[in-house]
This record gives sequence, C-alpha cells and structure tokens, in this order.
Amino acid sequence: MVAHAPLNAATLPTHAVPAYAVEVRGLTKTYQAAGKAGPKQALKGIDLAIPRGAVFGLLGPNGAGKSTLINIMAGLVNKTGGTVSIWGTDIDAHPRQARASIGVVPQELNMDPFFTPREMLELQAGLYGVPKAERRTEELLEAVGLRDKADAYARSLSGGMKRRLMVAKAMVHTPPVLVLDEPTAGVDVELRIQLWEHVRKLNREGSTVLLTTHYLEEAQELCDSIAIINHGTVVACEPTATLLRRVDAKALTVLVDRDLDAVPAELSAFTAELAEPRRLIVRYQPSRQRVDGILAALAGAGLGVVDLSTEESDLEDIFLQLTGGAHARKEIAHDAA
Ligand SMILES: Nc1ncnc2c1ncn2[C@@H]1O[C@H](COP(=O)(O)OP(=O)(O)OP(=O)(O)O)[C@@H](O)[C@H]1O
Ligand SMILES: [Mg+2]
Repeated sequence: MVAHAPLNAATLPTHAVPAYAVEVRGLTKTYQAAGKAGPKQALKGIDLAIPRGAVFGLLGPNGAGKSTLINIMAGLVNKTGGTVSIWGTDIDAHPRQARASIGVVPQELNMDPFFTPREMLELQAGLYGVPKAERRTEELLEAVGLRDKADAYARSLSGGMKRRLMVAKAMVHTPPVLVLDEPTAGVDVELRIQLWEHVRKLNREGSTVLLTTHYLEEAQELCDSIAIINHGTVVACEPTATLLRRVDAKALTVLVDRDLDAVPAELSAFTAELAEPRRLIVRYQPSRQRVDGILAALAGAGLGVVDLSTEESDLEDIFLQLTGGAHARKEIAHDAA
C-alpha cells in the first residue's frame, strides 16, 4: 500500500452533507489484454446512487463485475470511463479526499502473518494519518471480538477472525462509507450472525454500508436496497421489499382431514400437487388469485383443513430470474419431475 500524507475523515473540511454516499455514472472498465486473454469489458456503463445511511447490497454471479466496481471506488483499480463520487467527492478531482471517505474490506484476505491485530490497526491508522489521540484501536478490537487475540500473530487467527480483523482495519480512519466485499464468505453461521449484528451497529452509528454477497439470505436480511449486476450491467436496483414483490408466486401448503389419491378436480384452476396423502401444495399468483378461493375449492371437494402455511417467493427466485438462471433451474425441476 502507498503511504499518503496525513488525511483522515475527522480532519476533512466539513462540506455540505452529500445527497448520496456514493454516486456512479456511466462507469466502464475494460481490463487490458494479457497473455492469451483478450481485453475484458468488466463494466459496461454502471449507474448507481447509494443513499446516505443505507445498507446497500450488490449481488451478482461470479465475474459479474462487483469487485471491479468496488475496487474502482476504493481507488485500487483505474476506471476506463464514467464518474465516481464518494461522499460528494469526485475520485478524479480529489483522489486522496475520496479515499479518506471510504474503507474497504477486500474479497481477498491479504495480511502480514507476523503482525498482530493490534499492530496492524496501529499501522493502518498511521498510514491514514490518524493522530495517536484519535485512534480507536482498542474499541475496534472489542467491536470485532478480537480483544483476546490482540497480540497474537495474524497467521494464528482463523479465517473468520482474519475477516473480522479486515473489517476493523477498514474502519480505523472512521470513513463514512464502509465497503465489504463478501464479508462472510467462509464464515460459520454463528460468526456470520455476529458480523451482521456488527454491520447493523456500524450502520446505526452512521456508516453507510455497501456489501457484496453470494448469500441471498444475507442480502435479504441485512440490506435495505439491492442492486443486481450481471455481465457488467445493473439489471435491477430497488428497495429490497420492492424487489421481493417482483415475483408473483406463492405456495400454500394444506394439511387436509383425510387421505387423497389425487388432486381433487375442484382445484383445477390452480397448480396443485399432492405431496403426501394428506398434504397438498397449491401454487398461485397473489396478484390474480386469493387464498380464500383455494379454501373454497377445498371445501367444495368436501375436505376439511387441519393446518396450512404459505411460502413467500424469496430473493433467490428473483436473482435467478434476472440473471438468466431461472431457465436452468426450471430445466432441473423439469428433469426431476
Ligand atoms: N485484473 C484483471 N485482469 C483481467 N480481467 C479481470 C481482472 N479482474 C477481473 N477481471 C475480469 O473481470 C470480470 C469481473 O470480475 P470481478 O472480479 O469484478 O467479478 P465479481 O462480480 O467480483 O465476481 P465474484 O463473485 O467471483 O467475486 C471477470 O470476467 C474477471 O475475469
Ligand atoms: Mg468479487
């Protein structure tokens, strides 16, 4: 890493609070040809506005361009075209100030194995010119649950601990924008939930968080808005709730009061299957069909309802639909049928 002159968010000139934490316009990136590989257009004109105070999710399949986008924001990769502003600062006009406004946890964990977490945070704070009196090393170690490992060699930390250390490292200069590239990859369930809690806390305390993830559950749980990118293009960018409403499909599972050997004819208006002799799964479109219609049809077939539950469509359905994976999945479902 290049050492730059003292500069950190705390000493930045206070300018008007920006409308957006991050603003990206017409961003393109073509990686140069290398060896046998030709040039690669990783970003094909990305427009993105991340509101202040958001927890914003960036989703997309492998190679979609997520890390490229993040690394350009962080000043780690040079863009080909377009503009990027971090906290109201254009990265071309004021690169140092833009860098001081963002903290990035990269996807690849790279750390010197012979430094301890405490040393690493102190070193990072030094690089960002954070004065000794303003350093938050102990507080950050506590926040990521590494107080008891503060003086252990980094190489002796587990993968999940290393990732948490990287989060702390990205926070040393108290940037208003925190970017996490795959923050919970390879982290066990318990730690993942702990990291989510930590991200929520940072967000409550004022950080705008941008994260990429392959765990759709994580995005659904944590993010208030989500952008899906595919082949270097934004294919959706909406509040999570709006995105979830896009898939117009639900399933109603009904436990009936006697054994059946086929789906009753009364249910022919719906897509129903008999999962077990007493368990029917009825798929319907909430925009066109209502549950009371299904219940009326069951009553018409002389069936009593012992129990029922509905299943919402989730982010996975939408993701597959928007990234062209739905087709593949339908084929799998078809083969299995
Ligand atoms: N340094 C590089 N040189 C050449 N091509 C690159 C380079 N970095 C990334 N690419 C290519 O750019 C495209 C986007 O890669 P990127 O790493 O941004 O994807 P990603 O969405 O982060 O994927 P993942 O989910 O696997 O992390 C891919 O086709 C990748 O092979
Ligand atoms: Mg990536």
